[in-house]
Amino acid sequence: MTVLPILRWGDPLLLARAAEVADPTAPEVAVLAADMAATMQEARGVGLAAPQVGVGLRLIVALDVGDREAPRDRAPLVLVNPVLEAVGDAVVEGMEGCLSIPGLRGVVPRFERVGWRGQGLDGRTIGGEAGGFLARILQHEVDHLDGVLYPMRLKSPAYMGFEPEFDRWMRARAGEGT
Ligand code: NI
Repeated sequence: MTVLPILRWGDPLLLARAAEVADPTAPEVAVLAADMAATMQEARGVGLAAPQVGVGLRLIVALDVGDREAPRDRAPLVLVNPVLEAVGDAVVEGMEGCLSIPGLRGVVPRFERVGWRGQGLDGRTIGGEAGGFLARILQHEVDHLDGVLYPMRLKSPAYMGFEPEFDRWMRARAGEGT
């Protein structure tokens, strides 16, 4: 497994629509998925999309973190040609970061629950329903496949900033002090 360089905000490849993966069982797709998982783990991220490592294919890896402090050594969900569908119309605001936009955070509205499906590396269709942080991660990563970065979905441009300043501000707004 190879840790790959991650493209950063401003690289036009991050704004391009990625192509469908024709054969999810192709060996190079498995190599890419393994490299993306290693890259995500090294960067201590919870999700990564192929365009972020310069590959314009519809492939994401995501960690099913029940909470944001969960251990990150488990195998990520690998999803080829993912498709999401909102479950209900409830929208929740939450804080997001992106490995392509290091050091920054923003408040982004997302559907609270999504149905997801796609293919595994064995070519079989897999799917499920997700809520919580995983629903947010999946929406963030699938956005990458359509050339959409989270600053394009901010609640408002005012709701973005550097950590830890922004985290501190948001915690204060939530009445948690500090
Ligand atoms: Ni991202």
